[in-house]
Amino acid sequence: MRESEVSAQPACPVGSYNEWDPLEEVIVGVVDGAHFPPWHVAVGAPLSPQQRAVFQERAGQPFPAEEIAAARDELDQLVDVLEGEGVEVRRPEPRDHGHSYGAPGWSSTGLYDAMPRDLLLVVGEDVIEAPMAWRSRHHAASAYRPLLKEYFRQGARWSSPPKPELSDELYVADWTDQPEGEPFRSVITEFEPTFDAADFIRCGRDIFVQRSHVTNALGIEWVRRHLGEEYQVHEVKLADDHPMHIDASLMPLAPGKLLIHPDRVPEVPEIFKDWEVRKAPQPVIPDGHPLYMTSKWINMNVLMIDEERMVVEAQDEPMRRLAESWGMTAIPCPFRSFNSFGGSFHCATVDVRRRGSLCSYF
Ligand code: ARG
Repeated sequence: MRESEVSAQPACPVGSYNEWDPLEEVIVGVVDGAHFPPWHVAVGAPLSPQQRAVFQERAGQPFPAEEIAAARDELDQLVDVLEGEGVEVRRPEPRDHGHSYGAPGWSSTGLYDAMPRDLLLVVGEDVIEAPMAWRSRHHAASAYRPLLKEYFRQGARWSSPPKPELSDELYVADWTDQPEGEPFRSVITEFEPTFDAADFIRCGRDIFVQRSHVTNALGIEWVRRHLGEEYQVHEVKLADDHPMHIDASLMPLAPGKLLIHPDRVPEVPEIFKDWEVRKAPQPVIPDGHPLYMTSKWINMNVLMIDEERMVVEAQDEPMRRLAESWGMTAIPCPFRSFNSFGGSFHCATVDVRRRGSLCSYF
């Protein structure tokens, strides 16, 4: 290619098709200003009974300041680790989530900007803002708007599904857990499309998604139609009692390497038949450690810098060994204080650009 041709076509700032191509630019969240959201049936549904009690008791209050400080410190260490590996890191500006906002029929305060993965779905050069089902996350995109506008100016696609109304019709007011062994009973209806980006996981032309307490069938259908014929959106049935976000259940790490939760994947989807499937090792997070929103299986929420480099929690020896026995290099980073807020490395980040192109891996 001649030089003039190169400069005539500047590379798009957004471009990522899977979870493992070489990472060039990433957004890392911020935990400052995090608040427990107001109590609402949809907030309780994905939590365990013990977690629900804490959320009810502390509704509207800030998370403990010392826990925020410890998590902030770990996020900064993650930034250092990623920059040390040659990745460009972007951050949103911290904001206070204690302010009230609303729409006809409801009002809420916010949650946090700690988990960009929950909100932004990058598919190729398109960055999609998820229409989140939690009222406390209705304005989650605001934190990232300066970055999204910058990417848009530089040529990225920028999409947003119809803004959800989040009126009472979206929620099952008298929702209760499905009895043991019965099919999943979602707290949200099909009133309008909603989804969280973290219920999707990308393998090039094939994208996997689960229905959850935040992602409904209309939300999945919106993504399917929006992406069009170049992509196949596969809905997978997982055995998660409180489903919200697929990235602690089904984690494709590299072409041919699938990490799964040991109990939540009763049947590995047929399409992975030629892949090597391994179960995540038992988590080492001690019982007393606060986990406000997730199970201990957040240990499998790792971030791939490329097919070989995996960011793992510094104290998580079993996960480090798994990486090494699978031909990968484990890059440790302390993240246990951050885990308390409901995610690990995959949740806390969103890959804006990975070097690679649209491929099929099956
Ligand atoms: N629901 C999962 C669990 O409790 C955690 C998923 C977190 N993922 C995220 N993107 N915030 O095990």
